[in-house]
This record gives sequence, structure tokens and C-alpha cells, in this order.
Amino acid sequence: MIATQLRLDPLPGCGARVKAVNLADLTDAEVDGLRQALFDHGLLIFRGQSLTPEQHIALAERLAPIDVNRFFPAAPGYPVIAKVEKTADQMTNIGGGWHTDHSYDAEPAMGSVLVARDLPPSGGDTLFADMYAAYDTLDAETKAQIAGLRAVHGSDHVFGEKGVYAQTDQPELAKGGVETPETVHPVVIRHPGSGKSVLYVNPSFTLRFEGMTREESMPLLMKLYAHAMDMSRVHTLVWEPGTVAIWDNRATWHFAKNDYHGHYRLMHRITLAGCALEAA
Ligand code: OGA
Ligand code: MN
Repeated sequence: MIATQLRLDPLPGCGARVKAVNLADLTDAEVDGLRQALFDHGLLIFRGQSLTPEQHIALAERLAPIDVNRFFPAAPGYPVIAKVEKTADQMTNIGGGWHTDHSYDAEPAMGSVLVARDLPPSGGDTLFADMYAAYDTLDAETKAQIAGLRAVHGSDHVFGEKGVYAQTDQPELAKGGVETPETVHPVVIRHPGSGKSVLYVNPSFTLRFEGMTREESMPLLMKLYAHAMDMSRVHTLVWEPGTVAIWDNRATWHFAKNDYHGHYRLMHRITLAGCALEAA
């Protein structure tokens, strides 16, 4: 089977829905097709799946080597599965701001495979923004302004001992003693799997442009962020039992809505290893 034989329906704003596949029982050709579709569309959504944790791990391993997140608690008995959890009495959720996973790493995660395990009665949607389209729709002047720029990314202000989560009711995400070095990536990368140009800065982990202070960087960063989060290029994923989302962390941003206080939500995430990123 080749990629074009997969049944892909483009979704409003960002990504595609894949129909008529069983993620627990894929042929090698389907796996290759899904990987390429992921690179091309940035987000793939599957409905009506029933993956066990073992099948979730097997699926991830067929797509790419697993990159274990060093901050999130693991699902009991599954060290490679990160628990993305909010209890009925917590106020803070995980991923409740625009971000892309692991941009603070020298070799940022290629993708993430998120499985819905326990959903609130309503709310808890995830938004996805298309960073290919964000780049393509920038005006020529801004494209010229960011060509050749590089940006510094970090995680200490989020996951560090004095980071954002340390002040919340999810303090176990704030890991003292975990190495959180800053890292530098081009602002416009050449996507390693599609060859297309992508805008690669994000509001959660990008700190500043290389060679500039944060104050000097903020006006242009804010302009890029405002453009990138335009709702015409955002898809709202409404989770159902059995929904699986696979996204490409180089080609999209995501945002977990926190509108279900008093209810429990549990997702299982496996992060897929990526590579160093080159300028477009
Ligand atoms: C993540 C994340 C979004 C969500 O798992 O990386 O940001 O909706 N989760 O739970
Ligand atoms: Mn995330």
C-alpha cells in the first residue's frame, strides 16, 4: 500500500483524519504511509481505536524510536508512556498554552502519539495550529526579516525548580536536578520529512533570538505568535473514547484547553524521537 491509498480527509484548520485503519494491526506499508502523511499534514486523527498500552507502545516504535520525556510522570508499569493527567480537584492542566513538545532539546521530538484514556463529560479539547501554513502566509517583509535568524529555546522556566509548574497544583512536573540546557534552532526550518519550510518558534519554550535580549526579541516574537495562532489555521480536536492523535512537533503547535474543572482527564502520551533541525 502506498501513502495515497490511505483514506485521508483534510480537517478544518490543520491536519487530516485517517479513516479505515486499525492502529493495532497495520501493515508495514500503512506504517510508512502514515509516517509520510504525518510529515505532510502535521496532525493525524483516528477515531474508534482501542489500543492497549502495549499496542500504543508497539505503534510508536513502528513509527520512530521512543524519546522518553524527562519531566512527566510515567503511567504505572509503562516507563515510556507519559501520563498527561488532571484530577477533579486540580486547577492546572498540562500543555495549557501554545507549545510544541521538546523544542528545548537539541534533537527535538519528531512527534507525539496521544491516546484518550479518561475524558471529562465535556470540554478538554486540544487545539492544533499549522506551522507550515503559518510560515507560508507571512508577508514577504517578515519572511525576509526572519530568514537566517536562530532562536534560543529552554525548559527551565517551565519545568525547573523555580519554573511555572512549581507554583501550581501540579508541582511534581517541576523537576529539580533534571538538566535543562538552552538550545538553539533556526527560526525557519526545512522540515526533515517533507522538505517544506516551517516556522519553528513557540510561545512556551522559545526564549529569544540568538544574539538579542528577550526584550529586543519580544516584539517580533509576539508578531509571529499572533500570526501563528490565527484560528483560520487551527483545528479543534474534540476527543471521544477511542480517539488517537499523532502530531508532528516540527509542523504544528498544540494547546490543551482547561475548561473542565471538577472532572478527571487522563491521556497517555508517547513521544517519538526526532533529529537536529536545519535552516530552510
Ligand atoms: C501533550 C499535551 C495535550 C492534551 O501531551 O503533549 O500537550 O490535550 N497534551 O492533553
Ligand atoms: Mn504537549
